[in-house]
Amino acid sequence: MRVLVIGSGAREHALVLALRRDPAVTGIVAAPGNAGIAQHAQTRAVDPCSAEAVVALATDVAAELVVIGPEVPLVLGVADAVRAAGIACFGPSAAAARIEGSKAFAKDVMAAAGVRTAHSEIVDNPADLDAALDRFGPTWVVKDDGLAAGKGVVVTADRSAARDHGAELLEQGHPVLLESFLDGPEVSLFCLVDGETVVPLLPAQDHKRVGDSDTGPNTGGMGAYTPLPWLSPDAVTTIVEDVVKPVAAELVRRGSGFSGLLYAGLAMGVAGPAVVEFNCRFGDPETQAVLALLESPLGELLAATAAGTLAEVEPPRWRDGSAITVVVAAENYPGRPRIGDVISGAGDGALDDTAAVLHAGTALREDGALISAGGRVLNVVGVGADLAEARTNAYARITAIKLPGSHYRTDIGLAAVEDRIAVPDRASANSGRTRES
Ligand code: GLY
Repeated sequence: MRVLVIGSGAREHALVLALRRDPAVTGIVAAPGNAGIAQHAQTRAVDPCSAEAVVALATDVAAELVVIGPEVPLVLGVADAVRAAGIACFGPSAAAARIEGSKAFAKDVMAAAGVRTAHSEIVDNPADLDAALDRFGPTWVVKDDGLAAGKGVVVTADRSAARDHGAELLEQGHPVLLESFLDGPEVSLFCLVDGETVVPLLPAQDHKRVGDSDTGPNTGGMGAYTPLPWLSPDAVTTIVEDVVKPVAAELVRRGSGFSGLLYAGLAMGVAGPAVVEFNCRFGDPETQAVLALLESPLGELLAATAAGTLAEVEPPRWRDGSAITVVVAAENYPGRPRIGDVISGAGDGALDDTAAVLHAGTALREDGALISAGGRVLNVVGVGADLAEARTNAYARITAIKLPGSHYRTDIGLAAVEDRIAVPDRASANSGRTRES
């Protein structure tokens, strides 16, 4: 099977590496890819958001399966165009991708499906902002009501910071979504979904703030780990049965059945899981850790999802142990990153027994030097018999990487290793507040 992977981040690098381990995959092309992906697949400079260009490339390289990584092409209908050209595609239709592309649509689907989520209000007029803020918080959750790669979200106990962010978004012409704050540790559960068939992957946890101990602004994700030692296997079943399956069924009922990867971002509160967000694609950087533990052939799973035969495929098998991803970011990220710096020590990206370096924002300079080309530059993935060992392996590997001005979090997965995370029970709820609807 010849596979075309669309996207250019470390998530797509991880997809390419996992596809290479599948004996049924005979060739991989990535578009546009990055300098790391180019070490493992042919890359082609094609705009991932141009349906016409993606279809032309898929036809040119005789792709039998197109895997679309990022949300923007999905929301723009690139998967529809690929399928219309008679080529199998892993990724939802534009109609189904609205679960990520329109927060109002996602809320409506969840309400109809009886799925718990935060109470929310949309503000599209600056004159309404103050009164709306008074109906929320503290803590305030202020989001860009569109696609913002995680960076449009501010979660703060400081009302003036919440107001500033809301006012800035409105000034840019973006409607603001205010949400009630959901208690409990966060879980990212990725599910392969083909209509009403739902197959969960390993649960993971993202670290969204830029600094250690969850300080500083939100980012697209600074690191992740999987599985979650503090989450019971029953909790995954509960999420699948009470959250993902009802939403998948509601999308089918509306005539926009989901085909691809449905990412449930959840807060595990005292009353059970509540949805923070749905995404219509693999999460980044959780995927890099999750796929490092996948033993089953990825191509087979993705092709079956695309073909509507997911129910006939064996559930995924996982390597024992844990994996973590640590993101190496450019100077000033998540602000405007400095780019063009030379990187050394990144290696060739292959996962050995302990670690791999995946590329996100990288490029090759004319003289062949590897340089930074984005905010999140590299991801170091560590694997180990347990989370502590995976952390040790990732952080040992990261010391060999040199990128001027770069930074990374030193505490990815640490709270879990130190047993500082627990799903709250009713007794502990008395010391906090849940504001869920
Ligand atoms: N891990 C955050 C995201 O993929 O949106």
